[in-house]
Amino acid sequence: MCIYVRRLDSFEKKSTRNCLLISLVFEKMEYLVLLQNGLVVLLTIAFSWKLITYMWGSVKMEKEPMKVLVTGAAGQIGYAIAPMIARGIMLGTDQPVILHLLDIAPAAEALNGVKMELLDAAFPLLKEVHATTDVTEACKDVNIAIMLGGFPRKEGMERKDMMSKNVPIYKEQASALEEHAASDCKVLVVANPANTNALILKEFAPSIPEKNITCLTRLDHNRALSQIAERLKVNVTDVKNVIIWGNHSSTQYPDVNHATVSTPNGERPVKELDTDDHCLRH
Ligand SMILES: NC(=O)c1ccc[n+]([C@@H]2O[C@H](COP(=O)([O-])OP(=O)(O)OC[C@H]3O[C@@H](n4cnc5c(N)ncnc54)[C@H](O)[C@@H]3O)[C@@H](O)[C@H]2O)c1
Repeated sequence: MCIYVRRLDSFEKKSTRNCLLISLVFEKMEYLVLLQNGLVVLLTIAFSWKLITYMWGSVKMEKEPMKVLVTGAAGQIGYAIAPMIARGIMLGTDQPVILHLLDIAPAAEALNGVKMELLDAAFPLLKEVHATTDVTEACKDVNIAIMLGGFPRKEGMERKDMMSKNVPIYKEQASALEEHAASDCKVLVVANPANTNALILKEFAPSIPEKNITCLTRLDHNRALSQIAERLKVNVTDVKNVIIWGNHSSTQYPDVNHATVSTPNGERPVKELDTDDHCLRH
């Protein structure tokens, strides 16, 4: 009897130990299953993400290239601006471009040099470059026209003297844009006198919406701001309310009567702060 009880006792002990072992194994298995499920979820997410990005890449269409005309492209600004357009600085880094470069026959070699340098740079956004001295060819289907070309100001000439030289040039180029450019073409006139050239262009390209034609006229304003800022040793952003009256010629009148400068004590009139009587006070 005693032996039987002892055996029963050892049997109970063994079975308790086994139960503990089994429950430990089960617990471990639960962790493993959890881990396995977690891994499956992670792999599914990663795979789905790859699949989505791959499908997006194949569905995403490259934008149609925009045709950009630059007149006077062999000149100083043309040489600097053409690569900027080709790099996407003007229209964005996802907008392919086709450049139409126009200049006059005497500048044809320099123009070709600009084209070769653009090709050498292998800009990914630059799909084609057409360098030409033919205004009709240059204006064909262009979406944007940047007008830098014009009669250069020679020594002793005022900007207004260039007007008579530029009128026929702008008439011809406006007519070519009117006839050959895209109907929603946008035009930026830079060549001086920029506002007058823009007006001529508007007159001779009536089908281009008026609001699509603009010109760079901030130069004198910006120049005045930076000269005042330099004189007063302040940042250019601290100078406000400078006005330029008159045309971009000798009739121009920079007006600082309302101009102010931000100081630690608040806004102060520029004329109060300037120490050089001959410069800003009169
Ligand atoms: N609006 C502004 O704020 C502003 C600022 C700077 C310069 N500009 C003007 O921009 C223009 C370009 O400046 P730039 O420094 O490049 O001058 P630039 O003289 O170096 O270049 C002008 C180019 O225009 C070409 N050209 C002349 N007649 C032409 C025609 N009929 N068709 C096509 N091309 C022609 C010339 O051959 C030359 O390559 C100038 O008129 C300048 O006064 C305006």
